[in-house]
Amino acid sequence: MATTMDQRYDTQRLWQLDRDHVVHPYTNFDRFARDGSTIYVAGKNHFVYDSEGREYLDGIAGLWCVNIGHGRDEIADCMADQARRLAYYNTFEDATSAPAALLAGKLSALSPGSLRHVFYGTGGSMANDTAIKIIHYYNNLLGRPRKKLIISRNLAYHGSTYMAHALTGIRPGHVGFDLPENLVHYVSAPYDFRRPAHIEGENFCDYLIDELHHKIVELGPENVACFIAEPILGAGGVIVPPEGYHTRSFELCRANDILYISDEVVTAFGRLGEMVASESVFGIQPDLLVMAKGISSGYVPLGATMISDEIYAVISQPKVENPYFSHGFTYSGHALACAVGLKNIEIMEREDLCGNVRRLGSYFKTSLGLLAESPIVGEVRGSHYMLCIEYVADKAAKTPFDDAVAIGKRVGAHCKRRGLIVRPIGSFNVLSPPLTYDREAIDRSVAILAESIEATVADLAREGIWH
Ligand SMILES: Cc1ncc(COP(=O)(O)O)c(C=O)c1O
Repeated sequence: MATTMDQRYDTQRLWQLDRDHVVHPYTNFDRFARDGSTIYVAGKNHFVYDSEGREYLDGIAGLWCVNIGHGRDEIADCMADQARRLAYYNTFEDATSAPAALLAGKLSALSPGSLRHVFYGTGGSMANDTAIKIIHYYNNLLGRPRKKLIISRNLAYHGSTYMAHALTGIRPGHVGFDLPENLVHYVSAPYDFRRPAHIEGENFCDYLIDELHHKIVELGPENVACFIAEPILGAGGVIVPPEGYHTRSFELCRANDILYISDEVVTAFGRLGEMVASESVFGIQPDLLVMAKGISSGYVPLGATMISDEIYAVISQPKVENPYFSHGFTYSGHALACAVGLKNIEIMEREDLCGNVRRLGSYFKTSLGLLAESPIVGEVRGSHYMLCIEYVADKAAKTPFDDAVAIGKRVGAHCKRRGLIVRPIGSFNVLSPPLTYDREAIDRSVAILAESIEATVADLAREGIWH
């Protein structure tokens, strides 16, 4: 048995129980059956510890979410206090809790435009499902039952419930699953590194906007309900769109009476140096805005769909046939979760964590950018505390590695052995650390990545996979 922080863990027993009984999300069962999982048992600031007492820099904030860092006593005290007072009460129609009301006021104040109405859930997928259900309901109430289609983008990640999986444009992940047919249509991701060869960089934005325009014409604006977009595509490879892309796609939606959903599950709550990025970074006021992850820094499951005055005015009209807004969850507006959300925002504001991200963001990107000198790094991209390294087998031709090489996983495994957790996704490694990451943590992460990439190159050469 090993000791980590103040408790002892029987690693072997936990490993076995987990392997035998836990069905893990997004898992390759072959690898899992062989290796099982690391058991993380403690965390402090931007460090986490496993059951054997090993320390890691948490380069991914759990999963893009522990924005204020791990092990905050203030959050633990807030949870204990709210649990003693009232952990839970339903929020169906005639009931609410103080934290649900207070957090709704705060989120409304932080959100752009007229996004002053909050529907609570427990995560990002649920919040996206809610957005789509509300838009469909809204169009039904307006007497346009055919206006239901959704335009999403290749490589978008919007979650894993039935609807959110369909919104997600990472196509290999659709294989083997049934999705609602012909409801969601996809346009290209604004992926400059892999833009079509015949398109010049300065024309790429025009190309994307033309494509979106053609898609709207092809489907018929009278049939298209909404467009959904992450300000920066996250799990699809931290893809930053060209300048003007969001404002132009937003205007195109407006011109065609198509609602715009901004999925800020990753970008809100500081990752780009702003509490909400849609307007302050990208200049748009979406009709619906989806939040999760950093809203509670992952201390409790919480998600929110922000809804505009205009949409709320329609869905809240008195109705004859079904007077109820028939949508909701037991844990919508969960008192303890909302109390944590409020405390989390209070900490972020008091410690000016957005300021930290703004101050260190370009240093982080420039330092990580030095890794582009490696012969297997095709591009280092991203913004602020949302960064990514894309690996290539041939730098000049930008040829990707074969999937079987699992290049992201290989580099990730070297990083882990050296005490840094990065997220491997296909040919990428993503970095999305807690917003408390300081210069020292940045320098150490970059140094570990540099060593790990070098070690991977040596492995590939030894195995005859790369020369
Ligand atoms: C942009 C985006 N939207 C939605 C989701 C889904 O959120 P959840 O996993 O909380 O359901 C994620 C999760 O990573 C995400 O990155």
